[in-house]
Amino acid sequence: MPQPPTRPGNGHLQDWALSPLPLIEDGARRARAAGTDLFRLRLGIPSVVGFSPAWNKRLLSDLDTFRSAGGFSAVVPYLAGGVILTDAPMHRRRRQTINPGFGKQHLETLRGRTQAALSSIPDGEFDALAWADGAVLRLLNAAYFGGSFDPQLLHSFLAPLRQPFPVPALPRPLLFLRVDAELRRLATQRLTAGGDDLLAVLAPIPGGLEEARVSLAAAHDTTTHALAYALWHLARHPQWQAPEHHPAILKETLRLYPPGWMGSRRLKCELNWNGVTLPRGTLALYAPYLSARDPGLWDAPDQFLPERWTRKPPAWAYLPFGGGERLCLGMHLAQMLILDVLAELPPLQAVGGDDTPVPGITLGPRGPLVIRRTGKSA
Ligand code: HEM
Repeated sequence: MPQPPTRPGNGHLQDWALSPLPLIEDGARRARAAGTDLFRLRLGIPSVVGFSPAWNKRLLSDLDTFRSAGGFSAVVPYLAGGVILTDAPMHRRRRQTINPGFGKQHLETLRGRTQAALSSIPDGEFDALAWADGAVLRLLNAAYFGGSFDPQLLHSFLAPLRQPFPVPALPRPLLFLRVDAELRRLATQRLTAGGDDLLAVLAPIPGGLEEARVSLAAAHDTTTHALAYALWHLARHPQWQAPEHHPAILKETLRLYPPGWMGSRRLKCELNWNGVTLPRGTLALYAPYLSARDPGLWDAPDQFLPERWTRKPPAWAYLPFGGGERLCLGMHLAQMLILDVLAELPPLQAVGGDDTPVPGITLGPRGPLVIRRTGKSA
């Protein structure tokens, strides 16, 4: 099986830690040249990355073979729990229990609260990344807790996720205890006085508070990075600033810069893939970043072209929210929050900055992304 060049003594670990995007792009090039859709990485355990629609479909649909429990989320305490680590056959029931809170109907109920929590755009120049960070924190606080979670604690809880590895993987028992205590305090209020926020839906469910904690962690950086990149692209391409273009702007932003750039599973049993035998226990990766930039599937894949969204994307090649039964729980919530922010924007102009994608737990811009408002809000 093809693989990028290794370094003596550590295989691909150093490149994986320091510059994973060039590493996986090189692997994909070599795989394509060899007429296959899979390449090997040497990460200490047998690991493969696939990027074709067929691989994505199999990995995301065959939940018996491709297990989440042994993937990367298991080593990040923020993500190691709840639905994220629940595997088939329990996974489906778990999702059925928590999906309603995140479905379109309930989101309309939340919308009044989230729209009231929209942050205003500062006058003059500002960093879109830092602004999006604060804005999304307020929006999530509104959606989950009606704005009643201690904002400082919410910030302290989520901030380490953004740091380079291994910071997000370090255990933080005291911080998690404080967060769980705040969750219990608010959940008790919901159980006695009722409510219509996400916590009110999750609080009565066994394990619901863990779902709240884990999904908040899955929600914050992903939504912040997507929003920051969307603001940046709008500011750089003023011809797309009219509201009817916003859905295409968001789709194209998520194609080029999918915050969930890489997803991981472990093989529960041996798998034959196009004549290659992958042993049980293999770390099996899919890469929304590679699939959405595959030159065999997309025209001008590295260019920002919102007009491409007048057509349907190739099947199983556009996966910013994953796919299949494990499709992102917060997809509709994230889209609603981001589009509502974009709808209120004043005209913007990009000043300068560094939009290089930096892959960590999620992929986001290196920043800053300096933007200036050039008129009044919509
Ligand atoms: C633009 C924002 C977001 C992006 C790009 C994103 C991306 C993703 C992706 C790619 C997956 C699949 C992971 C995999 O297959 O391994 C996923 C799953 C998930 N996301 Fe999101 N996400 C976003 C926002 C949110 C929000 C707002 C929430 C809050 C509820 C959330 C909660 C989750 C959860 C709980 C899962 C696991 C679902 C399961 O395994 O059944 N995400 N997300």
